[in-house]
Amino acid sequence: MSEVKSDALVFFGATGDLAYKKIFPALQAMVKRGHLDVPVIGVAKSGWNLDQFRDRARDSLEKHGGLDTSAFRKLVALLRYVDGDYADPATFLAVRRELANAEHPAFYLAIPPALFGLVVEQLVKAECTKGARVIIEKPFGRDLQSARALNAILLKTFDEARIFRIDHYLGKGPVRSMLHFRFANAFLEPFWNRNHIESVQITMAEDFGVQGRGAFYDGTGTTRDVVQNHLFQVLTNLTMEPPVRTDSESVRDEKVKVLKAIAALDENCILRGQFRGYRNEPGVAAKSTAETFSALRLSIDSWRWQGVPFYIRAGKCLPVTCTEVFVRLRQPPSVYTAANQVPNHVRFRISPDVSIAIGMMVLSPEQDLVGLPVELVASQLPRAGEMDAYERVLGDAMVGDATLFAREDYVEEAWRIVDPGLAANPPVYEYDAGTWGPPEIHHLSPPGGWHNPTVADMVSNRSKPREN
Ligand code: BG6
Repeated sequence: MSEVKSDALVFFGATGDLAYKKIFPALQAMVKRGHLDVPVIGVAKSGWNLDQFRDRARDSLEKHGGLDTSAFRKLVALLRYVDGDYADPATFLAVRRELANAEHPAFYLAIPPALFGLVVEQLVKAECTKGARVIIEKPFGRDLQSARALNAILLKTFDEARIFRIDHYLGKGPVRSMLHFRFANAFLEPFWNRNHIESVQITMAEDFGVQGRGAFYDGTGTTRDVVQNHLFQVLTNLTMEPPVRTDSESVRDEKVKVLKAIAALDENCILRGQFRGYRNEPGVAAKSTAETFSALRLSIDSWRWQGVPFYIRAGKCLPVTCTEVFVRLRQPPSVYTAANQVPNHVRFRISPDVSIAIGMMVLSPEQDLVGLPVELVASQLPRAGEMDAYERVLGDAMVGDATLFAREDYVEEAWRIVDPGLAANPPVYEYDAGTWGPPEIHHLSPPGGWHNPTVADMVSNRSKPREN
């Protein structure tokens, strides 16, 4: 089953925001690359017909990524649409009819998690699930208990090999290439450990707010929205041991091992913030305590990482839009270290541009015996036709490659770590939009302070609105 290619794609939530901004562009790209030639059945309750659904697809592509006339024509021929309520069995009988002879459909649930159980149950009743896969959007649950409950619902019908939990960060080129960079090069390994690394920072900054998603965000907050999933994936890519093989389970085993070595957060290891003005956003409660900024300190109690503090922070309405990793090395015991000496570092820029930089000291050309910090930067410019994260993960799910998806035990370990920190209900400090979070962040400051990505060190500083 795992290598069988899905012979139909059914996506629930087809008239929603995620479909509009991410899924149609991904589908067109898959068609263009010759990776999609099976029926694509959208399901939603909007009172639409197929023509309106096709118009929506056209509009989506015109606004997000561009319409490719030839690929779009082929995509339109694949599109089907079922309009109906998820509580109504007739909706699923219509899906069954549209599936015709498909034996291995992929069901993509781009809908609120509260509806997963209902939709899966209806699919079973309509005899749609035999030989099928299910693809689920994050966040997968809102804590360990709800994630387990969701898993239990899915596992009644699909075994783990047929469940694909999307974390689109895993589909991003620079996140995938971290493993390659670490394990396909010899020079990094000797210093990639507690003996040489002093601390690690991961920053995901966004210079925009919640962009109309107030109702979702207020029930979620930054830690659940992007830290427990996207940034933990970045963390595990940075810290996992080399897998013995590159198959999905060998890779995912190593990721789970890292999370198992991380102690659960307590209230001293998490700092939350909320930008001033957030409570005026549509859908946000007047006295909301949802965080729009989250910073964590973690330690990985393993042979490689014991004693190295890891700092993660993410926030909305920060000065720039940028995701970056900053790894600070220990100071060498050299007679050449001077007052202006700064430790070496390795910097991975994940977005908006992609680069890897090594920070080092050289002799200042102006003043003898004075050190000058410089960076050796390798930048990768975007290439035409590069796969977007959603195209990659949807394509992988349809051919049954689970490597870039979160496994059940991974998701549960991640919740085990963040749950107690959130349950302790730490204070939510206010900060002004356009700043690097609340002033209280100094309580959770890495050695040498936070490294704030700046406009000057960006190849391009396009502000990138959220797209899902
Ligand atoms: C989503 C979050 O998963 O990721 C958003 O819900 C966030 O809040 C987005 O803005 C960031 O992803 P990207 O790919 O646009 O950087």
